[in-house]
Amino acid sequence: MPPSSSFQGPKGTRDFYPERMAIRRHVEAAWRSASIDSGFCEIDGPMFEHLELYTVKSGGEIVSQLFSFRRDGGEDDYALRPEFTPTLARMAAARGKSLPVPTKWFSMPSLFRAERPQRGRLREHVQWNVDVLGVEDASADVEVISTALLALERLGLGPDQVKVRLSHRESIAEVLKALGVPDQNLPEAFQLLDRRDRMDESDFRGSVQGLGLDDSAIERFDKAAGLTRPLDDPPEQLAQLLGVPVSALEGLGELTEGLRSAGLADWCVVDTGIVRGLAYYTGAVFEIFDAGRAERAIAGGGRYDRLVELFGGPPTPACGFGMGDVVLSLVLEELGLLGEQPGADLIQPPDVFVVSTSESGDVFTGRLLTDLRRSGLHARRSHKSTRNLGKLLSEASRAGARHAVVLGDELAGGEVLVKDLEAGSQVVVPLEGLSAALAGGLES
Ligand code: HAM
Repeated sequence: MPPSSSFQGPKGTRDFYPERMAIRRHVEAAWRSASIDSGFCEIDGPMFEHLELYTVKSGGEIVSQLFSFRRDGGEDDYALRPEFTPTLARMAAARGKSLPVPTKWFSMPSLFRAERPQRGRLREHVQWNVDVLGVEDASADVEVISTALLALERLGLGPDQVKVRLSHRESIAEVLKALGVPDQNLPEAFQLLDRRDRMDESDFRGSVQGLGLDDSAIERFDKAAGLTRPLDDPPEQLAQLLGVPVSALEGLGELTEGLRSAGLADWCVVDTGIVRGLAYYTGAVFEIFDAGRAERAIAGGGRYDRLVELFGGPPTPACGFGMGDVVLSLVLEELGLLGEQPGADLIQPPDVFVVSTSESGDVFTGRLLTDLRRSGLHARRSHKSTRNLGKLLSEASRAGARHAVVLGDELAGGEVLVKDLEAGSQVVVPLEGLSAALAGGLES
């Protein structure tokens, strides 16, 4: 490795300079407020876990992407967390029967996956997780989806920009079985459906053939695998298109009905191609995409009714989703929802900028900043040695400050000049009561 490469961040990681960090905090603020307003409590767990936690049930793809390690001289194998669900299930299992019903948890962990870095996929990302434990019926699935949509709406997105694509593993299993896929080949068929967009057509067809389907069944598999229908379609119609009795779509029907009555139908479509790559899902599954599907999934989730039990807890129905910051930020940026210079406008401008044009002002600057900040104002100072008021004020304007406090000759009389940089007006104010005047808005 050439010596210079160790001074670059590792492949697939990001450095958060102020504008990028402001975007991340903006997104996280929407995630947090949507979670809290929907009744979820924040949790977190360790950044690394025993390797086994992921090899048990996350599925081959995630396991092949683990950053795993063993301490020098140690005997335990660990992995940086590639997802949060196993940690959450482990935490729920440890609380056992004392867990309240429902338990509604959210978290915003950094996750690590050794993926090939590409647009929308990195080796470290921040992922919002929202999960409901203890509720068997579709009301919990509706709750987590509506929380996701609340955050997206607060970030400026609407049903024309993003779509929740819904499916149901049990319903899809019925469809696959009706086509002739034997029970033991179902997990493989799910994997194929999940990877379909990333496979070329002939590989896909070849693999479907390997599942034991004849030519006409392949045709029908192909059709069933990519069916997108509006939520308002009568279930009989979808059942007919898929070639299964309407009873096979019961689980999916409960979810679509719940979303319709929550007033969220226009954000959602049924998409039989969604099955999810992770192995622990048992029922309803969904992914959220930009409407044109130009990017990878913004979020993905579903029901995992057996995972808590697998980690030693009582039988616990559960559902939830993860939404990453990478694809979401790309979508927001593409749509111009992060400002003209993405992130720049999200950096908090100061309420007040302190400049000095006198020697006594230089001495007093530090004391004044302490007082202003103690009174809750965002106050900055100039660090320039110039006494040129014009230059100092333009620095204050560039910082986006609403007011500039000028420590000049008036200081001897216990007063300062306050300039309103937006209105262009100015007023002389006694030092005593300056904070209150600034906080309350100045009369010039
Ligand atoms: P997932 O589909 O693996 O699900 O990830 C959820 C979302 O996280 C993806 O849609 C994507 O936006 C983002 N994401 C995943 N991997 C990367 C990556 N390498 N780079 C950037 N973004 C990424 C899960 O992780 C489940 N544990 C979610 C869940 C919670 N299911 C139930 N509760």
